[in-house]
Amino acid sequence: MKTFHTVKELRDTLYQDRLKEKHIAFVPTMGNLHEGHMDLIRRARQESEIVVASIFVNPMQFGKNEDLERYPRTLKDDQTLLESNGCDYLFAPDALEMYPDGKRSQTQIEVTGLSDILCGASRPGHFIGVATVVTKLFNIVQPDCAIFGNKDYQQLKVIEDMTRDLSSNINIIGVDIARSESGLALSSRNGYLSQEERDIATNLYATLKWAKDQLMIGSTSHEEIREQAQQKLEAVGFQRDYFEIRAQDSLQTPLEEERSLVILAAAYLGKARLIDNITVELT
Ligand code: PAF
Repeated sequence: MKTFHTVKELRDTLYQDRLKEKHIAFVPTMGNLHEGHMDLIRRARQESEIVVASIFVNPMQFGKNEDLERYPRTLKDDQTLLESNGCDYLFAPDALEMYPDGKRSQTQIEVTGLSDILCGASRPGHFIGVATVVTKLFNIVQPDCAIFGNKDYQQLKVIEDMTRDLSSNINIIGVDIARSESGLALSSRNGYLSQEERDIATNLYATLKWAKDQLMIGSTSHEEIREQAQQKLEAVGFQRDYFEIRAQDSLQTPLEEERSLVILAAAYLGKARLIDNITVELT
């Protein structure tokens, strides 16, 4: 696997691949890679002849009091994992390479309507940072397809809508959430949890499954399910952020006849803010 630190070097190499009509799959990440990311790389491998990953801890998507500085940076280990899972090229720029004028971009991409709800309400500006950096990365790599995890469900929707709205020709592919045996969704931020908190953290998925069962039974209102779920989480030590039942496509409050739902949760545990979701198809 070749690692590139500059846009020019990566572009020159990909230009040669494109001349040979190679199909290119792209997996953008912020590093500290785990098996969930490797599922994305393996999916990219199935889709394409060339697999490109990026590692960039994007300052623009972190709020003032968030974990930008302490976000784990583990480039050497990440390179080993990527290489052994069939990645061809890694793009690992520094902040100046991505934002020559400083930590942000003067031009910002906002998918209105999706960016300021759910995680966007708790993390103002987060999805503008994500959409802007993903647009930049897409322009640098110019892939045929890009692979994202379903764990960041709202992020995936933002990127799908953004590519559609900007008439981009990139096929966006979502991959199922990778979980530990206990059900905890794999996340780089799980590293902030103590062993005791890890055990507690499994309640997030358990509560989502409980809420899904309630929706399937159909005798409890959404409002009651949400409130009871929050209470269950608080009882084991979480601090609430949100627990919401939304329409899968729009992420808006569902109309009564809506059958395709997604339950999304975010909650604080110790130093970590955890997110997870589960989809529900009502019959
Ligand atoms: O999901 C992530 O790791 C990041 O939000 C992404 C998509 C790489 C953009 O920085």
